[in-house]
Amino acid sequence: MLVAGNWKMFKGAHQAREFAAQLRIVEGRAPDIDVVVCPPFVSLEATVSSLGPESRIQVYAQNVHWELEGAFTGEISPSMLAELGVKGAVVGHSERRQYFGETDEFVGRRAAAALEAGLGVIACVGETEAERESGDTENVLTRQVAAIPEHERLVIAYEPVWAIGTGKTATPEIAQEAHAYIGSLHPAPVLYGGSVKPENAGVLLALPDVAGALVGGASLDLESFEAICRAGAEAT
Ligand code: PGA
Repeated sequence: MLVAGNWKMFKGAHQAREFAAQLRIVEGRAPDIDVVVCPPFVSLEATVSSLGPESRIQVYAQNVHWELEGAFTGEISPSMLAELGVKGAVVGHSERRQYFGETDEFVGRRAAAALEAGLGVIACVGETEAERESGDTENVLTRQVAAIPEHERLVIAYEPVWAIGTGKTATPEIAQEAHAYIGSLHPAPVLYGGSVKPENAGVLLALPDVAGALVGGASLDLESFEAICRAGAEAT
């Protein structure tokens, strides 16, 4: 069971350091599940150092480039992340796909380079509302999943775009169906993401093909993130 918190463009270095120190306290009484937090790039170092070497909570970046260095203004390489003690990266988040022109090809290259550098990867897939309504969900998932390499350190996150930050969660039936479909295409464990909250985490995380959660908004608050981790442990 893996619960990952995607902080998106929240928590600068100062806030991240304080939040990580609180996470460290929570970890002491927390159940035994894998926990990842994904701060913005500028807060990675503060988060890693505040969690300290004893923590089991892993720090992932929210994106990663495929080259180790070069003239790629605004990008961060896998080796730069590894040097900070960052253990992995999210790739292909729907906000990257929607607002920053991220393509399946780039998602595949980012994932492959991160894995090659020894990092873990959470690769995101998911259909938009229009794609679901026009009956294209399986085609979209097939195309997105085909770009994702197979590797033991790779995890897929199914995040229906219409459920992200909207408060609309996929019903357990929709989530289970999509997870089972992705599972028929790729061997990686599949996390569910999209408005996961303490109130719905128990049901979603108990679904047979749901291996954990990628949590956005509710991961920014200590109490709700802890409650989701607890729900994950109970569902295991
Ligand atoms: P949300 O975001 O939990 O705020 O819907 C999930 C995500 O984008 O990873």
